[in-house]
Amino acid sequence: MSRDDMDETIAQFCSAAIRADRAGFDMLELHMAHGYLLASFLSPITNRRRDAYGGSLANRMRYPLEVFEAVRAVWPRKKPMSVRVSATDWIPGGTTGADTVEIARAMKATGCDLIDVSTGQTDPASKPVYGRMYQAAFSEQVRLEAGIATMAVGAITTADQVNTLLISGRADLVALARPHLADPYFTLHAAAEYDFRGIGWPVQYHTGATQLHTTVRRAKEEAERKAQLLAARAH
Ligand SMILES: Cc1cc2nc3c(=O)[nH]c(=O)nc-3n(C[C@H](O)[C@H](O)[C@H](O)COP(=O)(O)O)c2cc1C
Repeated sequence: MSRDDMDETIAQFCSAAIRADRAGFDMLELHMAHGYLLASFLSPITNRRRDAYGGSLANRMRYPLEVFEAVRAVWPRKKPMSVRVSATDWIPGGTTGADTVEIARAMKATGCDLIDVSTGQTDPASKPVYGRMYQAAFSEQVRLEAGIATMAVGAITTADQVNTLLISGRADLVALARPHLADPYFTLHAAAEYDFRGIGWPVQYHTGATQLHTTVRRAKEEAERKAQLLAARAH
């Protein structure tokens, strides 16, 4: 990528941000993860440049920071901006959690409000260690060490997991994708589990909400009765 290409791309990012604002979006996320252009600058695995944009982490961050700064300048100050990062390449010699803390600090200093902490997908050689909430440790590291709000993502499948991540200070936001594909009413169902009524069910579905809250309450009462019975038998 020549300097001219870089300038043209910055202009394209900025005009996209201006269009997003006009279209009424409330928040903007710059994608610096998963092997896309800006990720390819950040990772030492994919960045092979020998100029001021390759080599040290400070050099690899230079262009992504230029893009962020330019977009932040055209995106309204009152609207938040986040950056999605791959906190590890899952490759020896690749980006680490400690590098990501440095990246998050630099983004914060440039006006970033939130780091969306994903991992990997930067190079086919990666060997991800999948598991329940497998990326949350990186969200926690960035949040605590860089002192910036984070969003945790990846294999977070229950409302209890979401609330546990939030209450234990491992993330400020939690985003779920596949659970919503499996159950488009995931959030409404979770609200019923917690008997939380302040969520906006569509008016036409209110009778369904009332029934679900009752069903959940009865199931909990039944489980409680069974537990008491078992406890009584054990004595
Ligand atoms: C169908 C599908 C398409 C996705 N496409 C993208 C994408 O284009 N860019 C991206 O950053 N993440 C993408 N993701 C990842 C999600 O943004 C999200 O971080 C991830 O799926 C969270 O994990 P979960 O599905 O276990 O909740 C996609 C996820 C799914 C399920």
